[in-house]
Amino acid sequence: MFKPKVFLTRRLLPSGMSIIEAFCQTDVWPDEVQPPYEEILRRVKGMEGLVCLLTDRIDREVLDAAGSHLKVISAYSVGVDNIDLAAATERGIPVGNTPGVLTDATADLAFALLLAAARRVVEADRSVKKGEWKTWGPAILLGADLRGSTLGVLGFGRIGRAVARRATGFGMRILFHEPGKTAPEPGVEATQVDLNTLLSQSDFITVHTPLTPETKGLINASALAKMKPTAILVNTSRGPVVNQTALYDALKTKRIFAAALDVTDPEPLPADSPLLTLENCIVVPHIASASVQTREKMSQMAAENLIAGLKGERLPNCVNPDVYR
Ligand code: GLV
Repeated sequence: MFKPKVFLTRRLLPSGMSIIEAFCQTDVWPDEVQPPYEEILRRVKGMEGLVCLLTDRIDREVLDAAGSHLKVISAYSVGVDNIDLAAATERGIPVGNTPGVLTDATADLAFALLLAAARRVVEADRSVKKGEWKTWGPAILLGADLRGSTLGVLGFGRIGRAVARRATGFGMRILFHEPGKTAPEPGVEATQVDLNTLLSQSDFITVHTPLTPETKGLINASALAKMKPTAILVNTSRGPVVNQTALYDALKTKRIFAAALDVTDPEPLPADSPLLTLENCIVVPHIASASVQTREKMSQMAAENLIAGLKGERLPNCVNPDVYR
């Protein structure tokens, strides 16, 4: 039987891989680290399907290199800022993503980071391992309480609202700001405010906006200057939403209390990044969706988007529905 040719920039988990291998002829990049850009250009040539990760730049040049056979791009992520959507739409190529299934895993990690930064968990663990645990003391490793504090949720889509639901259980008051959107979201008790109010009134700020030209650098020196000196910033969205030089200055000078980042700019964060010298900055390597169940579901969704596109059917989750007009 004729099987369509697809290039995968990494091997997915079995739930998706088994579907793809049953239906397609696959070329799978074998390494843990992503293929170099030149390798993507080379391997995508003549493919009907492309499965990519958020680490892979999929621009006009890649689409040109693929040629006219390319029918579908399936992203193994919810964020698609690495893909030139306009270029894909111009060529009539639908792009699929994996929304919904990673909402809770991402909200869980945002909350784990928030608690870890509030109670200095990583710093405390490090101090024990360095042999610095001498006694129980009245003022050792003091952090911040959640109950009665204010959480500012920047970006109030699926993930922002899931974080707000968790915060409700911890007795936090919730403010939210959705850049570019004015209508309040149903289902969660939260107050919509403007950006300046959110920045100045929140004890914790958690970022959940997609990366767009409007949100790039949204948390810059001026935004950080508006935050409370006790504020804690959590970012599980995309690194470039936060200006890292400004964040380093704010953390170093104790302009804000702490930050916890799942995403950085660039990724990976270079080992000599000044941020890594700070006790009040937690950095983890973009693991928000990294639970076994979530990654299996993402894998299956990415496979279903791919197969639908190869069959010429509408993708179950398409980020550029204009291709169907
Ligand atoms: C992760 O960051 C994703 O976009 O899925």
